[in-house]
Amino acid sequence: MASQTPLPAFSAIIVAAGKGLRAGGDTPKQFRTWRGRPVLQHSVDALNAAGCQSIVIVAPTGLHAEALAAAGDAANALTVDGGVTRQESVRAGLDRLTDAKPELVLIHDAARPDLPVEVIERLLASLSTHAGAIPTLPVVDSLAVSSKDGTMAGKADREILRRVQTPQAFRYEDILAAHHSWTGAPDAGDDAQVLMASGGSVALVQGDERLKKITFAEDFADPMTIPQFRVGQG
Ligand code: CTP
Ligand code: MG
Repeated sequence: MASQTPLPAFSAIIVAAGKGLRAGGDTPKQFRTWRGRPVLQHSVDALNAAGCQSIVIVAPTGLHAEALAAAGDAANALTVDGGVTRQESVRAGLDRLTDAKPELVLIHDAARPDLPVEVIERLLASLSTHAGAIPTLPVVDSLAVSSKDGTMAGKADREILRRVQTPQAFRYEDILAAHHSWTGAPDAGDDAQVLMASGGSVALVQGDERLKKITFAEDFADPMTIPQFRVGQG
C-alpha cells in the first residue's frame, strides 16, 4: 500500500531513443500501444501521479513529435535527441536538465511501462542516505556457468546476485558528474555502475516483477487482453 508521506521533489529522464530491434515491427516498441495506451505514456502517467516535476523524453532524432504524442502530450515533458547507445541517451537527458538542475532524478527505460508508485517511494527514500538507489530482484533459478563449447563449466552463487531494473534514482549533480567523468566502455548499460565508478554508493531496494522490460514481440501479447484471463468474465 502506498504511504501518505509526501515524496521529495524529483525530475525524471525516460530513455526512448532505441530502435527496438528485438521486438521488431515498423514502429519502435516504446511508441506502440500496450494495455490501451502507448508504452511510453504508461511511465509518464505513473511519474506524474507521483508528482514528478520535469520529464525529459530522450527521443530518436526526427521523432520528437511522435515521442511527445506517445507521452500523452504531458505538459511537463521536454525532449532531446538520443545517442547511439543507451548510455549516450542518458547523458543527453542529464545535459537537458542542466538549467532545471533538479536535486533528485529518476532514470527510466521507456520499455518498462508498468511502474508501481511503491518502487518510486522506496528509491527516493534511499536517496536521503545514498547518492544512488536501484530496484533489484533476487534470482530464483540455479545458475550455471557456460564454457565456450556449451558445456557446464561450473555453478554461480545466486545468493549474491540480483536482477537490476529501472527506474534508477540519483542525486542529480552526482550522476551528471559521474557520466561526464566515465572512462569505461561507451555503453556501460547501467547508470548505477557509472555512479559507482566515481565513488558514489548505490542502495539496492526491492524491485517489482511488474517492471519487466518489453523486449521481444511476444512481450506485447498481454494475458490481460486475452478474454479468459479478464477478471469477471467467463
Ligand atoms: N535506448 C535509448 N537509446 C539507445 C538505446 C536504447 O534511449 N541508443 C532506450 C530504449 O528506447 C529503451 C531502453 O533504452 O527504452 C532500454 O533499451 P532496450 O530494451 O535494449 O531497447 P532497444 O535498444 O530499443 O531494443 P533493442 O536492443 O532490441 O534494439
Ligand atoms: Mg538495446
